[in-house]
Amino acid sequence: MEDESSESRKKAKLAIIELANMISVPMSLHAVVRLNVADAVWQGGANAPLSAGEILSRLPPRTISSSAASAGDPENLQRILRLLSSYGVFDEHILATAAGEAGERKYSLTEVGRTLVTDSDGLSYGSYVLQHHQDALMRAWPLVHEAVVDPTTEPFAKANGEPAYSYYGKQPEMNELMQKAMSGVSVPFMRSMLDGGYDGFDGVKRLVDVGGSGGDCLRMILRKHPNVLEAINFDLPEVVDKAASIPGVTHVGGDMFKSIPNADAIFMKWILTTWTDEEVKAILSNCYNALPEGGKLIACEPMLPKDSDDSHRTRALLEGDIFVMTIYRAKGKHRTEEEFKQLGMAVGFSNFRALHSVDYFHTVLEFQK
Ligand SMILES: C[S@@+](CC[C@H](N)C(=O)[O-])C[C@H]1O[C@@H](n2cnc3c(N)ncnc32)[C@H](O)[C@@H]1O
Repeated sequence: MEDESSESRKKAKLAIIELANMISVPMSLHAVVRLNVADAVWQGGANAPLSAGEILSRLPPRTISSSAASAGDPENLQRILRLLSSYGVFDEHILATAAGEAGERKYSLTEVGRTLVTDSDGLSYGSYVLQHHQDALMRAWPLVHEAVVDPTTEPFAKANGEPAYSYYGKQPEMNELMQKAMSGVSVPFMRSMLDGGYDGFDGVKRLVDVGGSGGDCLRMILRKHPNVLEAINFDLPEVVDKAASIPGVTHVGGDMFKSIPNADAIFMKWILTTWTDEEVKAILSNCYNALPEGGKLIACEPMLPKDSDDSHRTRALLEGDIFVMTIYRAKGKHRTEEEFKQLGMAVGFSNFRALHSVDYFHTVLEFQK
């Protein structure tokens, strides 16, 4: 018989309850994004601690109805803010009463919470949060076990009848949110890559971004590297059709599994991870064919560490791996450095290097022909 009162048993029972209830965390995050709480607290940089009631009174008029019957429930908002404070999204400030007891709770944004604040371009990580929790994606999550039972079809396709990208393609609002989510994450990544002194675009004259979504990455590369004279944003036709025009960038619709426009360098970000090894080889092979001798492919992808530790980085990468398995391809995956290298070598690339310092989630991989 287990000794239910032992320290280790008590800790184990607590840990499993925490894991079982973990869904409360992303769903609470989703709620504060839906309610636009981060902008209400940030107030142009003030970030003054506010009570849940004060936050509610600052939310955009259409977020909470102005009728007295539904002016918002400060107690329930505070419950959400308390949980997210425990996960480092908000700082909780507990004011003392005159009698010296714990009084009103107020909340400001931490550095993590600030990623949800809308910037001057209308972007934040909030769209990424919303994109991940759309109904069609949520329908796939109870089917994760199916990826083990039958890996030929990913849970998203089982739940929705077709693969994610073709599903998004038929739903303009999903495509739009996908583009906004990608921009919200990619713009800060590119800023860090370009301002951090990455020199891989030096001397490049014709550059293609494969799966470039709205073209934000190219826009930023062009600004920093006037040596790039031709820039092609290559993505699915239904995606580039909706992309805004960007000076110096030509949007080209196509399918990277069929062919990729020629260039002396190819850029891609967050592409290889969503496909199986065979599909990755097909994409890499089309890149190889589109490059001249000595040309290079610069791919920015999540890369798995060898060890399974409990650091934020490892957890974010492992969680993303399960996301890919569930939503995009049951055998699409986050890969290790060695796995990327082997896939590149298999299609003919002769040199490979991985740069880890640009970002903690995406690693910059260079494959040279
Ligand atoms: C995860 S998003 C990355 C977007 C962008 N590179 C970024 O990081 O912000 C993957 C992109 O691949 C595009 N894509 C999917 N299948 C494709 C295909 N067969 N040919 C070209 N692009 C494709 C999607 O439309 C989407 O824009």
